[in-house]
Amino acid sequence: MSNETIYKGTLLLVNADHSYQEVGAEEQISINSRFPNIMLQKNAANILQLILDKIGAKAQIVPVSGYRSMKEQTDIYKESLMENGEEFTKKYVALPSHSEHETGLAIDLGLNKKHIDFIRPDFPYAGICDEFRNAAPYYGFIQRYTKEKEKITGISHEPWHFRYVGYPHSKIITELKLSLEEYMEFIKNYTVACKFSYITSAGAKMEIYYVPMGEDETMIEIPKDAVYQISGNNMDGFIITLWRKNNG
Ligand code: DAL
Ligand code: ZN
Repeated sequence: MSNETIYKGTLLLVNADHSYQEVGAEEQISINSRFPNIMLQKNAANILQLILDKIGAKAQIVPVSGYRSMKEQTDIYKESLMENGEEFTKKYVALPSHSEHETGLAIDLGLNKKHIDFIRPDFPYAGICDEFRNAAPYYGFIQRYTKEKEKITGISHEPWHFRYVGYPHSKIITELKLSLEEYMEFIKNYTVACKFSYITSAGAKMEIYYVPMGEDETMIEIPKDAVYQISGNNMDGFIITLWRKNNG
């Protein structure tokens, strides 16, 4: 892998300490034709749509904000500073270049109603919204900013903000009650010689490990019989996810 690929993938950690580095544009698509201006990376958009279909939430849950260019994030930040002041803005709007929305992997969702707040949409812990929240980790999304992890994420509790990290990472993060920051540290304990194993509810064996970035490029060893995915972590290495075909 060339080292700039640490900035690509579904497991990028983007926060106040780690800015988003745009390395070649990702394909962003509309979530659906009703909201042509709200976009996500293709896979994330399709999976979001799939969850909304599965739980029958298309009329009740609406996408509020998805992919934002750096300029859009800058405008939102400045506008919020003027309208809401610094304290509020620091809590609920990431600094330009430091927002997950710039990756196209984050979506703000709102309960469909007449007035939907753009920065803090209503997404209650009840009814259809909570049904979405509980289903999301089975499909690759996590609620990114919880009350418990405010000190770690640096962002206040956001019941409406979901981040696509891919399955089974979403499920593991939720089961272990970790923030994405903590998961990134956790996964560094696992190497090609000592992988983290996860058995899905369907009985498939998945394995995850971390490979630190090499000096110029990084060699990544993949077992022969595995389907795999590689994601940069936006910091210092790669996370490899293996699907074992034969439960081996
Ligand atoms: N509301 C989140 C933190 C963002 O602006 O990216
Ligand atoms: Zn958001």
